[in-house]
Amino acid sequence: MSRPGSVSVSVDQLRPGVVCSHSIDDEGGILLLGSGTRITEQVIAGLVDRDVKTIDIHPSDLAAMTGGKVGGPRPVRKNGREVGFSGVWEENISLKELLVDRFEEPFNEKRTEVLQRGLLGAKARFDQLERMIVDREIHSIDSIATISDAYARAILDDYDQTVGVMGAAEAEHDISRRSVQMAVLGMAIGAELGFDGPTTLEIGLAGLLHDVGLLVMDPKFRDPSNSMSPAERWEYEKHPLVAKECLENLRDIPVSVQLAIQQVHEQYDGSGFPRALRGPRIHIYARILNVVDAYLHLISPASNRCGILPHDALGLMLHHAGRGIFDPKVIRAFLKTETMFPLGSLVELQSGAPATVIRRKSDDYAKPVLVNQDGERLDQTDPENTILRPLASCNLPQMRIPISQMPSIQWNLAENRLLV
Ligand SMILES: [Fe+2]
Repeated sequence: MSRPGSVSVSVDQLRPGVVCSHSIDDEGGILLLGSGTRITEQVIAGLVDRDVKTIDIHPSDLAAMTGGKVGGPRPVRKNGREVGFSGVWEENISLKELLVDRFEEPFNEKRTEVLQRGLLGAKARFDQLERMIVDREIHSIDSIATISDAYARAILDDYDQTVGVMGAAEAEHDISRRSVQMAVLGMAIGAELGFDGPTTLEIGLAGLLHDVGLLVMDPKFRDPSNSMSPAERWEYEKHPLVAKECLENLRDIPVSVQLAIQQVHEQYDGSGFPRALRGPRIHIYARILNVVDAYLHLISPASNRCGILPHDALGLMLHHAGRGIFDPKVIRAFLKTETMFPLGSLVELQSGAPATVIRRKSDDYAKPVLVNQDGERLDQTDPENTILRPLASCNLPQMRIPISQMPSIQWNLAENRLLV
């Protein structure tokens, strides 16, 4: 509720470029913005970093600071209503509390089929939407939000299976499909971190839209694993800013999503691009998507190597997390999301038999739930069912990186360079 004589405005509704004619305090009376402060994206990012969701402004500043918008529903909307079904996307209700408990259930084949078909459908739909965004033919995020909405529902319905199916490596790099995967895994981490529905949906939106800038740039940049000259790399590193320009026509895109899109390639230690931001100056959505991007990059084939086994990719990320390149809180959440033997991946048991990882255990991310080739759940108190090592996928060539080799591996995330 706003204080007497002032109007409460969501930080998302602030319009960069205007100047506050009156000072703005937080609820405790501490100065947030002095009078004469120009609202910039950095100022808004600072408020978001401080977890300020609404501010009370002087009524005379209302029109200028919000462009006349105030109150009303949140920006992630569908057909004029909040997206989702009853209560699920309400603010301040953690999605984690709403996940359907399917711990005792096997992976459902029909659900796998629906998710895989959905990925193809979302890719086709998204290909079309991306082109319309680039051509500035759409002006609202509604049609894009329906894609993240559908996958957020899938996460609620079966978190483990959705992550397992959508987090699998693909043989070829494709921007649209990778963007959908980024959105889904990003939302899964958001749910693990305890975010509510509207916040989680915004992570999905940022994941879907983060690489739209590449569509208007030289096609050779669409696969970042291709080698680039220094001049080409300089050009490539502008793509988050180009994405922001492409999205300027979308009138209802939240500021937090715009910030995240520009910051997905910033690294927590300041080694990223385009602005070498570091630590909490990087929006939390971008810190989440950066971890997902790194994982998908490692498990996918590149021009000079095949994909890395999911278990070893995660191990490599944890090893390099010690350098401070990722937000530790996000890496921990990702580990809990995937487990040490990522969902959907194959392992070899002490008995020599193969098994598939199907579910997480809340109390032990080193020992996920396994099924044998007949889909039967394995008794993990039996020493024969202890995991011996990860196995390559049946469909893709994948390479191992043993723990002993990890210290000698040079990995430059910003340049997508991995020297094994
Ligand atoms: Fe990118």
